[in-house]
Amino acid sequence: MKEFDISKRVLLVGATGYIGRHVANILVEQGYKPVCPLRSINPKFAQQMKLSPEQTPIWDLENKSSVNNVFARYPDLCAIISCVASRTGGIRDSWLVDFELNMNILTEAKSFNINNFVLLSAICVQKPMLNFQWAKLTFENKLQSSGLDYTIVRPTAFFKSLAGQIKRVQNGKKFILFDDGTQTSTKPISERDLAFFLVQCINSKTRKNKILSIGGPGPVQTQKDLGDIIFKLLNKSPKYFHMPSNVFKILATLISPLGLISTKMRDKAEFLRIAHYYATESMLFWNKKIKQYSPEETIEVGKDTIENFYKSIIENDKQLVKDKEQKLFE
Ligand SMILES: NC(=O)c1ccc[n+]([C@@H]2O[C@H](COP(=O)([O-])OP(=O)(O)OC[C@H]3O[C@@H](n4cnc5c(N)ncnc54)[C@H](OP(=O)(O)O)[C@@H]3O)[C@@H](O)[C@H]2O)c1
Repeated sequence: MKEFDISKRVLLVGATGYIGRHVANILVEQGYKPVCPLRSINPKFAQQMKLSPEQTPIWDLENKSSVNNVFARYPDLCAIISCVASRTGGIRDSWLVDFELNMNILTEAKSFNINNFVLLSAICVQKPMLNFQWAKLTFENKLQSSGLDYTIVRPTAFFKSLAGQIKRVQNGKKFILFDDGTQTSTKPISERDLAFFLVQCINSKTRKNKILSIGGPGPVQTQKDLGDIIFKLLNKSPKYFHMPSNVFKILATLISPLGLISTKMRDKAEFLRIAHYYATESMLFWNKKIKQYSPEETIEVGKDTIENFYKSIIENDKQLVKDKEQKLFE
């Protein structure tokens, strides 16, 4: 692979998302020229990110000719980073966004011969059980067989997704653990470390045509370890509420029949299955041969630790952007 010519442009899809914003910042910091097409619902993004109108064209990613127009407008596009993802995790939206919209980008990437596609995926697709995971995995397969050079990055849990209980503990409530809190574990990764890794992929020969399961610098932590850190930082004695993870499964089974008549109920059942998945599966590399999660094979990236992230939230009384995972604890 040729050295990446930094004077050329990088198309960043999903730049308004949580990770996308970090990727946009790092691209600029590293001297790349990002083009960040936006939906018209993001009028303040360009100003907030100090990007020019030329770098932030409006498109409708669901409309193929609109996507084609953007590719045609920037003939020096040299690489693509896609961080686009369903904002709801609902069944239809996941297939639309994680699969179809990524396909719209891939189609244009092929026709404009942009031979460098970096995809933000998720580590949980290695044991797929949920619609959003199948949608991501189906696109991963299309990308792998597209003939383009690619890097698929499957990160573990983001810091923000593991910070949803700080407020409840500050308010004197118990930290909720699923089962005994030691059945699942992860090496959490910071948004900035992940974004930096994604940007590095553009210009890395060793990462070409690979699927990389990455986490933060470790150590591997269980849910209970994360709760212990929060209590220690808040100087409170640990108080836990043990919730049986089966609750989610039972509720999902009970409401599933309603999904036959209502899309809303079908999504509700899916959200309960998502909650059950997160409560029972580790976010680490899955070694298929030994059928076990492997912390050792989960590549460690960056330097940021979850303890320092929790500290900064507590000290600065930061309000986090709520995500699908945090909503579990409301
Ligand atoms: N949370 C975790 O711990 C975790 C762990 C591993 C992997 N991941 C994966 O990381 C990925 C990114 O997460 P994130 O938190 O950065 O996502 P996010 O904040 O929800 O951002 C989603 C992005 O996709 C865009 N998008 C959604 N629907 C669209 C549509 N119909 N048309 C055009 N654009 C659309 C959004 O644009 P708008 O701003 O216009 O809506 C936004 O830029 C996801 O695939 C997630 O599964 C998450």
